[in-house]
Amino acid sequence: MCGIIGYTGPRPAVEVLVESLRRLEYRGYDSAGIAVLDPDRPHSTVVKSERKVEALARRLAQNGENGQIAGRVGIGHTRWATHGRPTEVNAHPHRDCTGGIHLIHNGIIENFRELRAELVARGHEFLSDTDTEVVPHLIEEFYRGDLAAAVRTALRRVQGAYALVVFSADEPDLIVGARLNAPLVVGLGAGETFISSDITALIPYTKRILLLGEGEVVTARPGGVEVTSLDGTPVEQRVITVDWDAEQAQKGGYPHFMLKEIHEQPAALRAALRDRVSETGLVTLPELGIREERLAAFQAVTVVACGTAWIAGMVTKYAIERLARLRCDVEPASEFRYRDPLVDERTLVVAISQSGETADTLAAVREAQRRGSTVVAITNVVGSALALEADGVIHMQAGPEIGVAATKTFVAQMACGILLALHLGDSRGTLDVDTHRRLAEELLGMPDLLARTLAVEPQIVHMAGKYAHARNAMYIGRGINFPVALEGALKLKEVSYVHAEGYAAGELKHGPIALLDPEVPVVAIATRARTLAKTVSNIEEVRTREAPVIALVTEGENPFDGDLARDIIEVPACEELLSPLVNVLPLQLLAYHIAVLRGCDVDQPRNLAKSVTVE
Ligand code: AGP
Repeated sequence: MCGIIGYTGPRPAVEVLVESLRRLEYRGYDSAGIAVLDPDRPHSTVVKSERKVEALARRLAQNGENGQIAGRVGIGHTRWATHGRPTEVNAHPHRDCTGGIHLIHNGIIENFRELRAELVARGHEFLSDTDTEVVPHLIEEFYRGDLAAAVRTALRRVQGAYALVVFSADEPDLIVGARLNAPLVVGLGAGETFISSDITALIPYTKRILLLGEGEVVTARPGGVEVTSLDGTPVEQRVITVDWDAEQAQKGGYPHFMLKEIHEQPAALRAALRDRVSETGLVTLPELGIREERLAAFQAVTVVACGTAWIAGMVTKYAIERLARLRCDVEPASEFRYRDPLVDERTLVVAISQSGETADTLAAVREAQRRGSTVVAITNVVGSALALEADGVIHMQAGPEIGVAATKTFVAQMACGILLALHLGDSRGTLDVDTHRRLAEELLGMPDLLARTLAVEPQIVHMAGKYAHARNAMYIGRGINFPVALEGALKLKEVSYVHAEGYAAGELKHGPIALLDPEVPVVAIATRARTLAKTVSNIEEVRTREAPVIALVTEGENPFDGDLARDIIEVPACEELLSPLVNVLPLQLLAYHIAVLRGCDVDQPRNLAKSVTVE
């Protein structure tokens, strides 16, 4: 949700903070702020903006402060508001009464009302409406010249979720970070140390990343770090080297990250499949770490995930049920743990999350593990909480995704789900070797089909012009393309703010058909499929209500007579099981181009954040 960066080292901190906040802004963008500790000034410099990071940068430039803030220790924050409106006074950093302690935070302090009342009674003065502000005051209460000790004591009083970074003017080269149920990592540079919510912010500076565990506190100086638990016990340090490069997190000539990431999908899919089909032509997932006999013994699968990842889970369900002949439920993670779920040691739980930090998904995973289930994570972020806590991992290998609307990671999630289904089918003996080989080979050919599919973009730009004024839209599909209809509708809603619904094509006549009229375009997925004739009948029903139809069809296989569909988009032919990988691309492009024509902020849609680290 919120983006966090802390720095201690030889560089002017303000430059690192502003540059990093630009990279972190996709996590939340209601307001932004920095605090820099400058030993030559009587007080730390604090600059905030109730708008985006660029407004903060402009304010720094206008004040002429960019060049003048010489401090080499600082913290910066970009906010996604939970408690307190997005105003300047509610923007982070927040401070204690002395003005010596400054702090940034992501998460929710659930007992902030009690703590605030107690602190006010002890004479503390509060300036903001945020839950966060209790923490610097609480640290002030316990501060006796050892910031890390005061942070640990204060956090033992805190309930809720936090990732935070704090400094004190009395210990000028030190920053202290801590996390519980919210992401925080440490970048280990040469003579400099960074603490951030997100690896993406750190890759221009260092690839050596120290992973912090739940309830751990890091004391960071330019020359090194110490990690302890909340009771002060030293903790073994887990350091990984990431292979993302800084270029991947740039727009690379595209006007928006979303468009760049749509075009990166052939490469993202190739990366997701890399080393996962062996020389024998069969799927191999060595990093899964779960033996084949164990896989063969599961009696059911439950997928937990949120948003687009949940939709990828529905595609995974179709694949697992067909190839592994295992009952597979798909649950929104936010619902799963509140309904006494029927999972146990016989259930394989598959948790899908791009970020690996989604609070609802992590909570669902912990609940499933508590009930004895084995959890496999499908995630894009090596070292994320999900990757660390799951019993086995399939890394999506899609590279960083910066656009808030998921695109290339959806394709990578589906690919990993299909790989898992093939592997499960093989382990359980429900998939014959010839079918396995044929599907694996076809999967390896899919990146080329995705590249060909992207050639429809000029046609989609034209269509977007025709439909950009629509206030409602309907998306329909059947079977494994029903989830694709859901995803097409979600993309349109997220980036263009047009109301859209995804429906199983056969369900339309059971209610939503009442919404149709000539002003409601219907996007219909009518590519090669077992149920294509049924979908065509459903499209007839739509046309009878005079709603315009945009139909996705297989190249050279237009199933319609006459003008049943007003607009036709042709996509390359492929096996139905793999068709979601191709079919979602034109729908992403349509959402993108409609959003651009409507003047929307495509990469940072209103009210959204890239990873949702609160429940
Ligand atoms: C997708 O476009 C969304 N922004 C959102 O639904 C996202 O997929 C969801 O929040 C889950 O995120 P995750 O994959 O990081 O867990």
